[in-house]
Amino acid sequence: MNEQRIGGTTGSTQLPNRTTHIIGWGHEVPAATLTNADLEKIVETSDEWITTRTGIRERRIAAKGETTASMGAVAAARALAVAGITADDVDLIVVATLTPDHLMPSTAVLIKGALGGTRAAAFDLSAACSGFAYAYAVAHGFLTAGLGQRALVIGAETLSRSVDWSDRATCVLFGDGAGAIVLEALDLEAGEEAATRPGTLSFELSADPSGAYALWIPGGVGEGADPLIKMDGAKTYVYATRTMAAVATAAIERAGLTPAQVDLVIPHQANIRIIEHVSKAIDYPMEKIFVNLDKYGNTSAASIPIALSEAVAAGRLRPGDVFCTVAFGGGYTSGAFVTRWGADPAHGARAAQVDPAGIRVVRPEGGAKADEPPAVLRDFLRGGHR
Ligand code: ACO
Repeated sequence: MNEQRIGGTTGSTQLPNRTTHIIGWGHEVPAATLTNADLEKIVETSDEWITTRTGIRERRIAAKGETTASMGAVAAARALAVAGITADDVDLIVVATLTPDHLMPSTAVLIKGALGGTRAAAFDLSAACSGFAYAYAVAHGFLTAGLGQRALVIGAETLSRSVDWSDRATCVLFGDGAGAIVLEALDLEAGEEAATRPGTLSFELSADPSGAYALWIPGGVGEGADPLIKMDGAKTYVYATRTMAAVATAAIERAGLTPAQVDLVIPHQANIRIIEHVSKAIDYPMEKIFVNLDKYGNTSAASIPIALSEAVAAGRLRPGDVFCTVAFGGGYTSGAFVTRWGADPAHGARAAQVDPAGIRVVRPEGGAKADEPPAVLRDFLRGGHR
């Protein structure tokens, strides 16, 4: 199993006095849904095949003008409202995404503009579906090193614009959406034990270049840059099952815990069969694993923060509970972190204070990136744009 974590970088939060904790959370998904029945009319597939092989029933598709930055900004605004702070209370904005609005400027800078703050440093991070775990680790490191007090950590994707809608092996898997948290530095009392305190407990991150071209978007700069996802599904499935179990186990051990002491696992929402495999491999019951991939499909870096936000709203995380997130993705990358929840779930109601219509991403003259959904989907999208 070790070869699945080539180049592994590991970290512990056993710094003398400081850790981080989550004080805000939120998510945003497009209103328009695309069901498996719709896909039956677009490619040669069936609801039965998609449901039994992946667990996915429908996914959300961004409307015209809805982008990684616009969805990320709404999710971030909700996370700020839940935390009870403003954009100017934030020192860092990190956006994990593989579908940025542009190569430059970063999506994080566009989100900062939409939120209206002046202070925060802002940049994007590319680690595919493991991006949220990587971004959380980077923000944790920034805050525990004393570079700031609060960070917005965002995962946001518009994968519908990067999917080949004639390739049934990939187009059934992906969807659009965004999730965000506010991470705050937490100074520990002298003698406070990791076993009881709230806050971040451990990480495990890895990158394995042997999978670099098994799951990729050629894209980049240059003539004829191809923006569409290519995937060796079988190879990725094998990697996913091995690495998810390995990094989750490593992160839980590094936190000084056993799986039985973890109250909730929030895995990357790629495929229910991969999640069931992890459940068996680490001997952890499916009832304690949060799953929402039936509604959204694989939203890459957005999947864990959307799931986290929904898990809190569903009463699955209460103060004192320990949760572990675990992800794998293009690179190949993988990542996990373990955190003891400390916030009052009732603060989630404050997200309703945010009016999405009032959050606007600045666009250049001519309205770049107000692109329509792919033409082949237009007859099927219901729910429109809020
Ligand atoms: N509908 C109907 N048939 C299909 C479809 C479809 N949508 N897609 C593939 N098939 C066919 C194949 O062509 C193949 O047919 P054949 O036997 O005649 O050649 C058959 O179904 C079986 O294909 P398999 O690849 O063996 O199917 P499998 O059970 O492995 O499931 C899947 C495929 C769901 C893609 C699986 O391999 C998987 O989940 N892999 C991981 C993919 C993943 O999670 N990627 C995201 C990574 S995260 C990131 O960073 C973006």
